[in-house]
Order: sequence, then structure tokens, then C-alpha cells
Amino acid sequence: MDFWVAGFLVLTAGILLRPWLWFRLRESKKKDGGDEHEEKKKKGMIPKGSLGWPLIGETLNFIACGYSSRPVTFMEKRKSSYGKVFKTNIIGTPIIVSTDAEVNKVVLQNHGNIFVPAYPKSITELLGENSILSINGPHQKRLHTLISAFLRSPHLKDRITRDIETSVCLTLASWAQLPLVHVQDEIKKMTFEILVRVLMSTAPGEDMDILKLEFEEFIKGLICIPIKFPGTRLYKSLKAKERLIKMVKKVVEERQVAAGTTASPANDVMDVLLRDVSDGGDSEKQSQPSDFVSGKIVEMMIPGEETMPTAMTLAVKFLSDNPVALAKLVEENMEMKRRKLESGEVYSWTDYMSLSFTQNVINETLRMANIINGVWRKALKDVEIKGYLIPKGWGVLASFIAVHMDEDIYENPYQFDPWRWDRINGSANSSICFTPFGGGQRLCPGLELSKLEIAIFLHHLVTRYSWTAEEDEIVSFPTVKMKRRLPIRVAMVDIL
Ligand code: HEM
Repeated sequence: MDFWVAGFLVLTAGILLRPWLWFRLRESKKKDGGDEHEEKKKKGMIPKGSLGWPLIGETLNFIACGYSSRPVTFMEKRKSSYGKVFKTNIIGTPIIVSTDAEVNKVVLQNHGNIFVPAYPKSITELLGENSILSINGPHQKRLHTLISAFLRSPHLKDRITRDIETSVCLTLASWAQLPLVHVQDEIKKMTFEILVRVLMSTAPGEDMDILKLEFEEFIKGLICIPIKFPGTRLYKSLKAKERLIKMVKKVVEERQVAAGTTASPANDVMDVLLRDVSDGGDSEKQSQPSDFVSGKIVEMMIPGEETMPTAMTLAVKFLSDNPVALAKLVEENMEMKRRKLESGEVYSWTDYMSLSFTQNVINETLRMANIINGVWRKALKDVEIKGYLIPKGWGVLASFIAVHMDEDIYENPYQFDPWRWDRINGSANSSICFTPFGGGQRLCPGLELSKLEIAIFLHHLVTRYSWTAEEDEIVSFPTVKMKRRLPIRVAMVDIL
């Protein structure tokens, strides 16, 4: 059923977008002019490939592969016919797909701001034109630097470690009381609470429950037909966003009234943004600071909300299927637990991050999960990378999944092998060949926080509980998920 809904959406978007794109490409061609020789040379440099059928391009094949157990087949087939960088047409858009780690690196670094984010219309509508995910240039850089510095700060990690531990322990204790737990659903409640705590320090309770409900309504419209009038999905989601912003704005205003000295470190992203507003900045921030801050907080819920629970769910899945890796993980974590019990010390965030095999498990999960399987950009002008030409106006898909599952880079890429990271770490290409959090200008600011959160979750899961998982499968389209939401039975164990 989902397949056909997605297919219909993609086709509709394709039909709506095609004339617009054709017009845009013709316009840019007319403007660029240039001599014939230059044009011919350029044409020869456009990566090889097929643009598929009129209107639909190669979209159906792209979706069909997304639904299979090996979504990377779409890339692999074309890579073997045309090379590591090829052209295709997906959702009515001519696009260059890169499965080459070095080309991806150049796209991500984005020197000269040539590549801008390109999302489907429904997403841009819901994000708003000033969201960190859609803007480009100095504003994005400034916001990115501010948020990254805060999310990576030892002060936040110190503070949030206790909150994460509390949420994880309460969640796991509740799982042990249930006959069957659908990990994918249950984990979401926990990670959303942690995210909202990082963003605006809201504690669990009634406000949190309403925020969660409104947020769920809001994100339902992220992939939908981009038509906006009462009754449509997009309209309902935009209304939910308005209500969300109103709730967050109330907290911002209370914070502004209570604002005292700013000498103490910021406690959450809201503090960081409010201080930036009062330190100066552009006119939008200055004139309506509470609107600006509340909008940014709501937009930042999007990138963290789906990714975190998916990473944790898939870690449980991979460990359930790999008892040897699980045993090693238990051993490493039990050793730390024993040490902590003997010394009576509380855990610090550095304790969790020091567990090297646990970090290997997290990396291996992220490599195989491909939660964000690549990033979509649009070229604002002709760009040449490694002898390939990306023409102005074309889309670029820097495919992470194709690199993460490339057998020339990762031996037996479909095997969950956390030990491989002992061999890989520090090798010349390790950073450009492993990009679950993107890279360059838009490297995920939540990277370290995410790894910490997953490590805390795994530690308490494997040192206090055992579980058996029912059969389930990973699906990768439109987003990575477990087909049956990963049902497991959890029991408390007294290992020590
Ligand atoms: C396992 C979890 C996560 C994964 C795999 C992930 C992945 C990514 C990726 C690939 C990007 C780059 C997108 C692009 O280049 O267009 C990104 C950006 C971003 N992520 Fe994450 N993310 C995760 C968790 C989080 C969390 C928990 C937060 C918030 C606390 C967060 C906040 C952001 C933000 C704000 C951006 C936009 C940065 C910018 O464009 O400047 N992410 N993430």
C-alpha cells in the first residue's frame, strides 16, 4: 500500500515539477550562452547515465529498490554501467548521483556556497524559508557554529548525562513490565523528551505530552502532496506548527522576563539563541526575538526526532541478530558497571564515551542503518569535480549509503562487524568514507550528543536486561524503519 502511495506522490510531484524545471534549464542555458565548442566540451563532461522515461525518469526503479532489502541496488547497477558518478532523473528532476567519497566530500564542504539544500516542496513549506536546514550562507554558518558549540560543550554533556540516564532507566523498567515492547515506538517517547530538554529544558509532564502530540501532527506533512487549503495534510501540519510555535513562544517570553545575568553557561538551545539575539545580529532577530527563537526551536526538533530513535532501534536489531557482538558489548559494559559499583562513583559522560567496543557498535550501526542515506543539493552554477561537470540548476545526490555499503571500502559490507572499526579507525580515508552525520558546513551539530545518548541507552540495556526479539525486517523507503516496529520481550537480569 505504502509503495503505491509513495509512487503516486512522486509521480504527482514529478508532473508538477517537470515544466518548471524544463523552463528553468532553458532559461539558464539561454543566459549562459557561450561558444559552441565550450558547450560541446561541457556536454562531454556531464556524467553518463540515463534520464529514463519522460516525466517519471527512473523514479519507479529508485522507489522499488528503496523498498527492497538492498536499497543500494539502484546505485550499484548504474555505477557498474556508467561509473561512480552518473546522471539520472528522480521525481522529475535531472540529478547527478555521486557514489564517490571524494566527490561527496567536495559537495559537503561546499566551498563558495555553490550547493544549496534541495528538499521537496512540502518539506520547504513546513520548515519555512529561514530554517537552518534550508538557508545557506552566513546566517546558516552563524547558527550552525552557535548550536554546534553548545551541543558539544562539556557543560551540556555533564548536565544532560543525568537526564538521559533517568529517562533511559525509567523507560527500560517500564519495558520489563510489558509482555511485548515495540522498540521503535517506545524509544521515540524517550528520545523526544531528551531532545526537548536539550532544546528548552521542559520536564516530562502535561506540556511535554501536548508538545509531542502537536509535533507528531506537524511532521506528518513532511512528505505529502504540496497543496495547502483547509483539510489538506499540508494545511493541518502548518496549523500544528503554528500551535507548537505558540507553546514554545510562551516559554521564550517567560524566559525573557526572568532573564538575569548571562554570566552562567547556557542551559539549553533556547538560552543560546536568546543570548545571541540580545548580543546583536540581523534585523529579523532584533525585531521579533521571541518569534525568531521559537521558530528555530521547533525547526530543530525535526532533524533529531526521527534519527535518534531509529539509530537505537537498529542497534537493538543488529545486536539481537549478532550474539557474539552482544556478548562482547555486555562484557565491556559490565566491567565498567562493576568498577562504578565498587567505587560508588556516578558515571560521567566521558565514562560512557570511553567504552571503545560500544563506540564500535554505534559506528557499525550507523554505517549499516544509513538513516540519512545521502544529502540532496542543487548546483547554483556549473561545477567541475574530479573531471565531472555538474551543470547549473541540476540536483546532486551525495549518496552516503553507496559508500557505506561499497565492498571496495568495507569488507563484507552486509556483515555487522563492530570489530572492523579497530582496523579502520585512523586510516587515511576513514573520515570521508563514513559520513552518517554528513560533513563540511552542515556536519550534524547533534553528532556527539547522539553518540552519548546511544551509549547510555546500550549500557543500561545490556547490563540490566536481556531480551528476545521477534522476526522483523528493515525497510528503507521513504525512511528507514522496522517493518513490524521491532517487537521484543524484555526481562530483568541480575548479572552481578
Ligand atoms: C543518529 C542521529 C542523527 C543522525 C544520523 C543525524 C544526521 C544528520 C545529517 C546527515 C545532517 C546533515 C544534513 C545536510 O547536510 O543537509 C544533519 C544535520 C543536522 N542535524 Fe543531525 N543527525 C542526528 C541527530 C541529531 C540530533 C539529536 C540533533 C539535535 C539535537 C540534530 C540536529 C541537526 C541539525 C540542527 C542539523 C542541520 C545543520 C545545518 O544544516 O547546519 N541531529 N544531521
